[in-house]
Amino acid sequence: MKSQTEGVRQSGGRIMARLIVLLGSLSYVMVFAVFNGFLGYVCAMGVTVSGAVAVAKLLGESVALSYGALMGIAIGCGVARGLLRYVEQYCNHYIAFRILAVLRDKIFGALRRLCPAKLEGKQKGGIIATITADIETLEVFYAHTISPVCIALSVSLAVFLFTGFISSWYIALTALAGYLVIALPLPLISAAKLRAPGVAYRQEFASFNAYYMDSVKGVRDVLLSGSVGARGEEIDRRTQALTEKTRLIKRLSSRAGALTALTISFFIAATLAVAAALTLTGALSAGRAVIGIVAVFGSFGPVTAIAALPSNLNQTLAGGDRVLKLLDEAPAVLPIEGGREPEFDEVRTRALCFAYEDKQVLRGVDIAAKRGETVGIAGSSGCGKSTFLKLLLRFWHRGGGEIEYDGTSIDEINTAALLQNVTMVSQSTYLFNESVLDNLLIAKPDATRAEVEEACAMAGIHDFILTLPQGYDSRVAALGDNLSAGEQQRLGLARAFLRGSKILLLDEPTSNVDSVNEGIILRALEKHGSDKSVILVSHRLSTLSAADRIYKLEGGVAHEQKKPC
Ligand SMILES: Nc1ncnc2c1ncn2[C@@H]1O[C@H](COP(=O)(O)OP(=O)(O)O)[C@@H](O)[C@H]1O
Ligand SMILES: [Mg+2]
Repeated sequence: MKSQTEGVRQSGGRIMARLIVLLGSLSYVMVFAVFNGFLGYVCAMGVTVSGAVAVAKLLGESVALSYGALMGIAIGCGVARGLLRYVEQYCNHYIAFRILAVLRDKIFGALRRLCPAKLEGKQKGGIIATITADIETLEVFYAHTISPVCIALSVSLAVFLFTGFISSWYIALTALAGYLVIALPLPLISAAKLRAPGVAYRQEFASFNAYYMDSVKGVRDVLLSGSVGARGEEIDRRTQALTEKTRLIKRLSSRAGALTALTISFFIAATLAVAAALTLTGALSAGRAVIGIVAVFGSFGPVTAIAALPSNLNQTLAGGDRVLKLLDEAPAVLPIEGGREPEFDEVRTRALCFAYEDKQVLRGVDIAAKRGETVGIAGSSGCGKSTFLKLLLRFWHRGGGEIEYDGTSIDEINTAALLQNVTMVSQSTYLFNESVLDNLLIAKPDATRAEVEEACAMAGIHDFILTLPQGYDSRVAALGDNLSAGEQQRLGLARAFLRGSKILLLDEPTSNVDSVNEGIILRALEKHGSDKSVILVSHRLSTLSAADRIYKLEGGVAHEQKKPC
């Protein structure tokens, strides 16, 4: 039951390496993007360096190219720079959006493996954040992290070699020292300074969001309870706190930016000093000194991009870590294929036990339901009724005992057959933002209209649907709040009837319906349940009166009860 999504974060390098591996064949596009970025910078520098070469020629340096050719190179480099930059950015964003699609697909695949167990309980919110926000932050990693780093490395190396060979190795080494200082200690220092405020900001941001959304959702109760003022003040206070944290981060980021700019100025001054010293001592001609200085002057752009990374890199790595862990997570149960497919005429549990982590819920439950039988389960809230039904669908491995369909252990039954023949109507029914008809058809996509209407009539919802503006074609979103919890529940029931499974597990099917509709549902169960086994969980005695036998679940054990009259 323990989830891998919690726990220790993997190291930054490992996360980055694994995220790059996820690129797969897109890595060729990445290499192409880096190559274009590199050439783009080289062209940008080509503009100034060709000017410097012209100056060197003026100063008497022997240059094979004419002034006209140098001017042509400068113009050509300027134009090419624009095009190359465009291609580089295009490639980066192409990769980023393609990889987002790939990641979403992988996450969906992972959820399919991990569900339904994974979406039970507390973890649900975290997974939704991973699917939405975390994947989005990875866009930054793919579009704005990998290629700047590669481009910085290649451009710096190229300038180092160019300056060394054409001008002077002393100037080249001074520039190299500058690149190293800007790319290594500076980002590490600013990352260290930003870490704690970054964590504090994200916590404040998450808490603000939750409070704000909560207030919006509960705005009616806020209004009715007259607590608008207090809520408003609290929101103001939290906004203020968030602004303070943002301000601190901005201040630290600008300081880091200023420090980088200062370091660049320092190394430019150092390059000038080295070049002047070399020229004055006669070790280097003035023309070559100019070329070296100009080349180094224009070369700090790419490494500055590395210095600017830490502000979001931490967040990106945390998002990447959660995405990777979700992809790695082992499912609570593996689907069974190539197993057996019984008739599903009877379901029986023997001494069934189950615990959530260390919380023992079921301690030996013996319940059986045959075809044509309706078995009721009563019990106080939290005693394990829903858990019992979920175990019959193999959400989790049982802790002990046995679950059998027609005498065959649930562990030997094909998962697809189990899901086809056993249907659960849970306490809340999710309705998709589609038409009412489409919402029903998910239970049986090839059902005819007559079948759908019959299922709805059985669930006592057909007449209500006809009163909707577009009947079965009404869109759920357009109905909004007009669909009561009871109506949603009856749509859930209609889905189950439509599916036509042999075993129906109903979790509090009448908890949100009035007694008239309860009567309709119970009569439908009586009438149409004769060829099914029905397990009916309810805390209402009136609902349980529809059952042939009733068990009371208490202390993790089920006792058969006398039927109420
Ligand atoms: N996914 C879960 N993880 C951990 N504990 C859970 C989970 N689902 C339910 N529980 C706990 O197990 C107990 C039984 O829950 P449940 O089967 O939903 O009870 P009932 O349906 O009878 O109200 C409760 O105490 C509940 O808090
Ligand atoms: Mg329940």
